[in-house]
Amino acid sequence: MKLKELGAHVAAEFQKKYGRQARWIVAAPGRVNVIGEHTDYNDGFVLPMAIERYAIMAADTAAVPEKFSIYDTQFKESTTIDISVPVTKGQPKWSNYIRGVLAGFQNRGQKIPALDVAFMSTVPLGGGLSSSAALEVCTATLIEAATGREIDPVEKALLCQKAEYEFAGVPCGIMDQFISVMGRENHLLLLDCRSHETQLVPMSDPSVELLIVNTNVKHELSGGEYAQRRAQCETAAKILGVASLRDATADQLERAKGRMSEVVYCRARHVIGEIERTVHAAEGVRASNWPGVGNLMYASHASLRGDYEVSCKELDVVVEIAEEIGYKGGVYGCRMTGGGFGGCAVALVKTESVETISQKIAADYKTKTGIEATIFVSRPAAGATVLEI
Ligand code: GLA
Repeated sequence: MKLKELGAHVAAEFQKKYGRQARWIVAAPGRVNVIGEHTDYNDGFVLPMAIERYAIMAADTAAVPEKFSIYDTQFKESTTIDISVPVTKGQPKWSNYIRGVLAGFQNRGQKIPALDVAFMSTVPLGGGLSSSAALEVCTATLIEAATGREIDPVEKALLCQKAEYEFAGVPCGIMDQFISVMGRENHLLLLDCRSHETQLVPMSDPSVELLIVNTNVKHELSGGEYAQRRAQCETAAKILGVASLRDATADQLERAKGRMSEVVYCRARHVIGEIERTVHAAEGVRASNWPGVGNLMYASHASLRGDYEVSCKELDVVVEIAEEIGYKGGVYGCRMTGGGFGGCAVALVKTESVETISQKIAADYKTKTGIEATIFVSRPAAGATVLEI
């Protein structure tokens, strides 16, 4: 469904639930990261794009003051948050992404407007496509619309990241929330996670597409592995005597190899290499050098699988199938995307071969794993928006 239709659908759900018309409709996209994985919390570079999958909210001023009510139109579940006091964690679990954002606005000294909200999301849950960042940024966009006060986009992304960190317990970096706020149609976003500077990298060549392959193996980042990787990177930086791995070179790491455990060495090798690959990939996209970008994607996957150990069997199977199809069959490159341990892979493919490639991946993946993959294509989409009613 196109974004406009989705907006109309959620507005109709609002009307059904609350018996009146919605006044604001807002949406925020999920993302796929083309390259630059596990680099954001190391002050490095990332190259994500917003996808045509969204969290959408329709809302109006609440009938009851001091209350923020949310109706989940897909799971038919409602919850009400008391906004007359500092918002804290609570139930149901998914409400914490919203609660965290409301608390963030309160911490800025802003009064939260009492709202009735209907909500839905087309970002697959637990698919590594940032369904949670989409929900957070959507909430923040709604607060902006309802108060008529926009906040600086960087501040907005950071507020949403804090919500994820403090209310959902994931010590994530800044990538997901930044791209959901700042995505632009037909562009990737090269984000410097240290300075927060962003560069839009045009990707409008109609001869290529990004194919997103959901392994349908759920990824769960609060399981501790993510925090462990982060800690290992910090250990490496400390041993190297740098503020973060962004400041370290491959040579420096080799010289210090004897002073760290094998695991810490491998983690650092991934991060240092991945930051370099990301910068090169952005140049490759600018030059429409698709074979070059594809090779960097394969190298990224190998490093995430071997050195960083965040891939899983199913993701590796998708990448193997893509490699088998190869350049001749229309695949330039493929890699896991997002935090890892399941979720999605992303492949850079020739537009003319999308159908055959999708069918081949679906069939071979089913044979090799017994699981049905979900496969779709997305053009780079725009970031969070207020939709016209
Ligand atoms: C998750 C986090 C991001 C980033 C990726 C790995 O998506 O939310 O901040 O660290 O993992 O690149």
